[in-house]
Order: sequence, then structure tokens, then C-alpha cells
Amino acid sequence: MDKFFMVSIFGLLIAAHAAAGNMVLDNIAVLGELENLDIEEDDEVELFDMPSWTSDRGSKVLVNVDSFGAVGDGVADDTQMCQKSSGSDFIALTVGIVFFLPSKMRGTQPAPHDSQFSWFLQDVRYLINATRFQGPCADILVIQIDGTIVAPDEPKNWDPNLSRLWLDFSKLKRVLFQGSGVIDGSGSKWWAASCKKDKSNPCRGAPTALTIDSSSAVSVKGLTIQNSQQMNFVISRCQSVRISEVLVSAPGDSPNTDGIHISDSTNVILQDCKIGTGDDCISIVNGSSAIKMKRIYCGPGHGVSIGSLGKDNSTGIVTKVVLDTAFLRETTNGLRIKTWQGGSGYVHGVRFENVRMEDVANPIIIDQFYCDSPTACQNQTSAVKISEIMYRNITGTTKSSKAMKFACSDTVPCSSIVLSNVNLEKKDGTVETYCNSAQGFGYGFVHPSADCLSSQDNKDAELAEPITDDISSEDKYAELAEVITDDIIHTEL
Ligand SMILES: *[C@@H]1O[C@H](CO)[C@@H](O)[C@H](O)[C@H]1NC(C)=O
Ligand SMILES: *[C@@H]1O[C@H](CO)[C@@H](O)[C@H](O)[C@H]1NC(C)=O
Ligand SMILES: *[C@@H]1O[C@H](CO)[C@@H](O)[C@H](O)[C@H]1NC(C)=O
Ligand SMILES: *[C@@H]1O[C@H](CO)[C@@H](O)[C@H](O)[C@H]1NC(C)=O
Ligand SMILES: *[C@@H]1O[C@H](CO)[C@@H](O)[C@H](O)[C@H]1NC(C)=O
Ligand SMILES: *[C@@H]1O[C@H](CO)[C@@H](O)[C@H](O)[C@H]1NC(C)=O
Repeated sequence: MDKFFMVSIFGLLIAAHAAAGNMVLDNIAVLGELENLDIEEDDEVELFDMPSWTSDRGSKVLVNVDSFGAVGDGVADDTQMCQKSSGSDFIALTVGIVFFLPSKMRGTQPAPHDSQFSWFLQDVRYLINATRFQGPCADILVIQIDGTIVAPDEPKNWDPNLSRLWLDFSKLKRVLFQGSGVIDGSGSKWWAASCKKDKSNPCRGAPTALTIDSSSAVSVKGLTIQNSQQMNFVISRCQSVRISEVLVSAPGDSPNTDGIHISDSTNVILQDCKIGTGDDCISIVNGSSAIKMKRIYCGPGHGVSIGSLGKDNSTGIVTKVVLDTAFLRETTNGLRIKTWQGGSGYVHGVRFENVRMEDVANPIIIDQFYCDSPTACQNQTSAVKISEIMYRNITGTTKSSKAMKFACSDTVPCSSIVLSNVNLEKKDGTVETYCNSAQGFGYGFVHPSADCLSSQDNKDAELAEPITDDISSEDKYAELAEVITDDIIHTEL
């Protein structure tokens, strides 16, 4: 396509949308940016995919926690031994391996590589108190978790100084968590004591089952985390993380049991995870950027969330998030961005794509009036700015009639919300889109119609800021222009 033709397309566009000429150009730029948004996968994490722990033991020190006298009957307290195994033993080793929970040797198990390591862990439950593992440890640390680790179940017995952490790993560099193990927070007594369950209870935090904090080049593969006291798995202040084939499970009515919670972290890949909880399957909060989720199953739970952000007038910043291929079933929200009134900061550059939903209550929702508080929240003039959010190839069934809800701040409107090939149905056919102070556009098939994103009663909506760096190909520009001319007015075809 030559330049002249392209220019003529723009000429037409501008003629057709004289008043909104800039906006069309801006939309094209936004579209280019959102379509090209990608999160690079970090090689540093890849290093770990095949740890060589079955060969050449010369450079490694293995610590079998059983050798420290672990009992593994789920009743005796095995904390001391685990802390010992994570202590100075590992400093300056080339490769350290913590065998977290080896069971008895299985005599008949054929040795796959090395008969020393052929014991596998089965039907063993280890009771472990709140425990902190703090690096630096080995140059490469492998934490092998098999069997089941259980937390003491009585809230009264918890050290209040550690009340929000059960298993906490921090300051590690190049660490692999692996195994078929189960990390079980034994949370039922905590849930019963939650103010969400009974308003007469005080609102107190409960522990997170597994926390990985202030670490880099982290890989977590194959573990199950379940029944946490509160959040199941938190990744905070980390760089270059890959979580794969992780299962998270807690009852649908367990309060605040987020599945995987990402905070202050960059370059995080979550893939092939199956999550069912009583809160968000995945929540991504302040300070997080370059987060990629792929092949995620969620349900029950509150969906995949960015936020909440901006609580107590705080700053919340989340950028570059991609969710590609997900199935959500019977969740109370699907794809959600939630912010409190009074916050500041921004959510910018998000693409949700290839998502299938079944009986989801709020499949697509931006909620800038989020208020998870026993007292009502007042509207304020400041808010977290939300822009450049794309929803592409999102299909399925909704339980609520407002299949798409863009409830944006009156003073800080949402801008550049892009919908492409969205089809959300409700059994009785009454499905609609709600907009408050939200600006954007659709192309391709969009059902229910999202005309309210481009309608003038969103008069406060700002024009998108032009972003031109990412669009190098003039052809691409022109193609996008064509697509938009066709569909910008009629979002529902
Ligand atoms: C584990 O917690 C229990 C209950 O608070 C306490 O009695 C015990 O000493 C703790 N064990 C260790 C090793 O800290
Ligand atoms: C909690 O921390 C405080 C201050 O660091 C300390 O004085 C106190 O002994 C700790 N309490 C327990 C139960 O460890
Ligand atoms: C949010 O993250 C930014 C950047 O990482 C940081 O400067 C700010 O303090 C954080 N805000 C809160 C409330 O933690
Ligand atoms: C947030 O700011 C508003 C407006 O300035 C103020 O009324 C409110 O008390 C602040 N809230 C908190 C938790 O600081
Ligand atoms: C749309 O998403 C579904 C998964 O939800 C996927 O199976 C399908 O291939 C996607 N369609 C396109 C055109 O990418
Ligand atoms: C806040 O503003 C929204 C949108 O204008 C409105 O729907 C809502 O009722 C307001 N809430 C309060 C508590 O004033």
C-alpha cells in the first residue's frame, strides 16, 4: 500500500469524522500499541527449567530435611529442622538443594537417575510453624517440595509479629521451587474468625501461605498451594519470575484467599495455572509491570484483577499486563480493574485476549468506585487513571445483565478502552454495556454494543494521547485505519 493511498484513507477518515479527526488518528496509534504489547520472556528464568540436580553431585550439597530429625507425621513440629536447613549451610555453595519433605525411601521405586535421590514423597504431612528463609543462599538454590506441608491451624498460637506470613522466602537469587508437594495453610479457623464471615469479628489480617519476596530469577513449578489462611501465594518485590503448572485451591466462600497476588514485581510469567479460591484468582497490584499470564483456569473466585489500587489515597501504578488464553467459570467477576476513590497513579497498557467465560457475573469490569470497607467510601476528585485497555476475543455467558461495565471516575475518566471481537450472552438475552465517564472504541464484532464508549454523553472523556513510537509500518497504519473506518461507529455488527 503506497503512501498516497494511505494519505487518502486518512483524508477520508478526517472528512468523515471532521470533529473527531484527531481522535481517529489517536485510536489507530493506541490500537497499534495495544496489539503489539508483548512481555518478553526472561532467559534468566529459563536457565532453571532443567536443573541438573541428578548429575555430578560434586558441586552440590544436599540437605535432606529428614536427616535433621524431621518427623513428618503432621503433628510434631518440624520448624526447627527446616530453619536449620535453610541457614548458613547454603552460603557460597555452587548449587544448593533443599529437599523439603522427603518421605521414607520407597524401596521398590526404580532409580531414574541416581539411586540416592530415588525416594519419593508420598502421604507425608509435615507441620511447620511460620518460617522465614532468607538469602543469599547458594548460587542456584533448588527447593524441592514433596509430600504435604501443613500450617498449625490455631490462630491463637501464631506469633503476632509474623501474623501475615507463614512460609516466607526472601532475598534469593536464582531459585527453583519444584516438586509435587502441597502447601496447606489449614485456614478454616482463620476463615471462621474473619470479619467477612461474621461482622462481630475484628477485621484482622491472616497469614499468606507462601510468599516469595525481594528475589530475582525465580521459578516455581508444579506445586499445589491450598486452604491458605488468607492469600495463598504472594510474589512481592521480585524480578524475573516464572510460575508454571501451579495449582491453587481454597473453598469459594473462604474470605480473602487470593490465589496468586503480584505486588511490586516486574517480568512475571504465570502459565498453565489452575486456580479456584474465595477471592481473586490472580491479583496484580502497585508497582507491577510486564506481567504475562497464559493458559489460566479460574473458578470459583473473583476473577483476574488488576487492583485494588489507590486505597487510602495511595499511588497505584500498573503497566504492561497481558492475559492470553483463559477460562473462567462461575466467578463473580471476569476481567477486572478495581481502584478506590482518592487514589492516584495509573493503569496503562493492558491486553486481555482469548478468554472464554461461563456463568461469570461481571465478565468485563472497570470499577473505579471500589470500596471493600465496612464503612461507605466517599467520591473524591482524584483517582487512578486508566487508559489503553484492550479486550480481544472474549466470549461466553454472563450472569449479570451488565456484561461490560466501565464505571470510571467522573474527574479522571478512563480513556482508550478497545474492544474487539467480544461476544457475551445472557440466557434471557438482556445484556448491555454500562459506561460512566469512559472513552474508547470497538472494532470487529462487539456484543453487547459498546457505543456508550464513543458517545458524546461521555463529554468529559479526554482524547487519547497519541503514541506513535511503536508504529513503524505505514502499511499497518493504513490497515488499521481501514478496520476502524468500518467499525468505529457501529460497534455491533
Ligand atoms: C511453633 O509454634 C508453637 C506454638 O506457638 C510453639 O510452641 C513452638 O515453640 C513453635 N516452634 C518453633 C520451633 O518455633
Ligand atoms: C515482636 O516484636 C517486638 C519488637 O521487635 C519484640 O519486642 C517482641 O518480643 C516480639 N514478640 C514475639 C512474640 O516474638
Ligand atoms: C507504588 O509503587 C511505586 C513505584 O513502585 C512506589 O513509588 C509507591 O510508593 C508505591 N505506593 C504504595 C502505596 O505502595
Ligand atoms: C484522602 O483525601 C481526602 C481528600 O483530601 C481526605 O478527605 C481523606 O481523609 C483522605 N483519606 C485518607 C485515608 O487519608
Ligand atoms: C478465541 O479464544 C478462544 C479461547 O478462549 C480460542 O480457542 C480461539 O482460538 C480464539 N480465537 C482466535 C481467532 O484467536
Ligand atoms: C460516585 O459517583 C458515581 C458516578 O458519578 C455515582 O454513581 C455514585 O453514586 C457516587 N457515589 C457517592 C457515594 O456519591
